[in-house]
Amino acid sequence: MSNRLIIAIDGPSASGKGTLARRLAAHFGLPHLDTGLLYRAVGLKSHQTGRTPIETAANLQTSDLANPELRTDSAGQQASKVAAIPEVRDKLLNLQRKFAHQPSGAVLDGRDIGTVICPDAPVKLFVTASPEARAERRYRELRERGGNTIKPRVLAEMAERDRRDSERAAAPLVAAPDAFLLDTSDMDADAAFAAALAFIERKGFRSSGP
Ligand code: C5P
Repeated sequence: MSNRLIIAIDGPSASGKGTLARRLAAHFGLPHLDTGLLYRAVGLKSHQTGRTPIETAANLQTSDLANPELRTDSAGQQASKVAAIPEVRDKLLNLQRKFAHQPSGAVLDGRDIGTVICPDAPVKLFVTASPEARAERRYRELRERGGNTIKPRVLAEMAERDRRDSERAAAPLVAAPDAFLLDTSDMDADAAFAAALAFIERKGFRSSGP
């Protein structure tokens, strides 16, 4: 096994995987790619330009990932629709693999990182939480950003997106057999980070920083 540290993090929305990915990347000094942004950008841009999602994915630019609109729930719903198209996933594959295999190592989070993008990653984490815990987090996040929504609606939209992501034929959301399962329902971000770090250190990887 090479000692290049690639950390593959998968899980459903609002499971805490994004926060965990950012913290692990900072701890180990690794570049981080939030792969959900790629699908969000394809969904939003194809909707805005009228081009097909496949064509949009083939011509995606890094500048497309900076749009703040990508963080909205409607961009998330659009993302999960275009993410079910196998050709869209194919067009985004090389970019993600290249990012993962840069010499420094990398952290990637998404739905199929440990199963499809980096099946050879030495560290795989599958982050989950109960639907209620995830909906509560998402609801608070939306409220903090000034959004106007109600909890049952957040829960229903989340269930719809979970179902679409888990039941699709192309790269469905599923834990890799060798992934470390982290249920964050009763954990805060610090506890999730500590549990993930302990697992990574047991595998022999340590931060080389101060
Ligand atoms: O993680 P995020 O909520 O930003 O992802 C948006 C959508 O993009 C997901 O619901 C999923 O359908 C899709 N996605 C995917 N594969 C990934 C990352 C995201 O299919 N690796």
